[in-house]
Amino acid sequence: MKIGAVILGLLGFCSALLPAIPFAVKFGVAALAPAGLLLYEYMECTSYECCNDRWIKRNKTELRENLRDSIYGQPFATRILLNAIGNRWSDPQKEYDKPLVMMLHGPTGVGKNYITRTLANSMFTAGTKSVFVHYMTSAYHFTSEDNLKLHIADMQSWIEGNSTLCGENLFVFDEARRFPPGLLDGLMHFMAHGSPAAKKIGRSIFVFLYEGDEPVVDWAQDLYENGEDRETISLRRADEMHDSLLVKRGLIDYHLPLLPLERKHVRKCIADSIYSNYLNKGGNPSMLGYDDLDEMIDVIEKEVIFFPEDTPIFSAFGCKKIESKVLSEFRLPDTDHHL
Ligand SMILES: *[C@@H]1O[C@H](CO)[C@@H](O)[C@H](O)[C@H]1NC(C)=O
Ligand SMILES: *[C@@H]1O[C@H](CO)[C@@H](O)[C@H](O)[C@H]1NC(C)=O
Repeated sequence: MKIGAVILGLLGFCSALLPAIPFAVKFGVAALAPAGLLLYEYMECTSYECCNDRWIKRNKTELRENLRDSIYGQPFATRILLNAIGNRWSDPQKEYDKPLVMMLHGPTGVGKNYITRTLANSMFTAGTKSVFVHYMTSAYHFTSEDNLKLHIADMQSWIEGNSTLCGENLFVFDEARRFPPGLLDGLMHFMAHGSPAAKKIGRSIFVFLYEGDEPVVDWAQDLYENGEDRETISLRRADEMHDSLLVKRGLIDYHLPLLPLERKHVRKCIADSIYSNYLNKGGNPSMLGYDDLDEMIDVIEKEVIFFPEDTPIFSAFGCKKIESKVLSEFRLPDTDHHL
């Protein structure tokens, strides 16, 4: 009776401790019940994310296919990105001296966020919801210049804390240009060759999203006017971006310039949206009152703003808001009926 109560009590005690068991390993408790612990860890890692290959999938095929299918007009950026990441992922055991650091730079609506989401989805089984994905945007995080020291300390402890749990994370800094000046310099020791902090997160990836027209719009215009292919843009030109200390000190491994989208690219986005919302769901242009897909695309293209004024070749907002334009323009007859 008494012993039974003790056992029950112990059981209750143990189950309360269950989440803490992995830490118990450190104190040698594991020696008491190695098999049970292994089983426990096995089950734990089946339902919750762990820092292992089940949860860190690094699927290059998925990355390549999703970029190829949905990113238009960025042959340079996607090629460099696929090569850089493909290399990193080819040997999951390999340790690196520093994380891979990339900057995606370009005007709005050209795919910076899409590329980042695709990267998260092909890197982690839990995708963008993974506990190993850390997203910081200057719109919400670390906004005040007055608290710069505090912000830097917080940011560093996030990164350190998370890299203690797992050495392979994805850190995303959105709207990087608007963080208070100096904040990103607090990241330097995580990225510098030879620094122990950088080695600890050597398998992680840092992505900075940097919104800005210059100098990418000028390049795109040159290429267009000279009838050159976008593919020809050189790495040296991509290195022309110098306005942050991170860049100046060579801590960014790859600058990926994303160019403004031309009409032909925008038309592809429009077509994608029409497919996913209507044609792939059994609709066809005539049900919507049009002769063909091209005619539907024309309707939406007319609503897109192009610049510069004298020769409007680039979309002012890339492929942003295309979806909502498509949805508000086209109605299948029986959708109207039910409303
Ligand atoms: C990687 O992604 C591709 C395309 O989505 C899929 O067919 C393949 O099964 C995935 N590979 C692994 C190992 O999960
Ligand atoms: C890990 O990063 C997140 C932000 O994604 C942060 O909220 C959390 O406190 C960090 N964890 C540790 C242990 O530092």
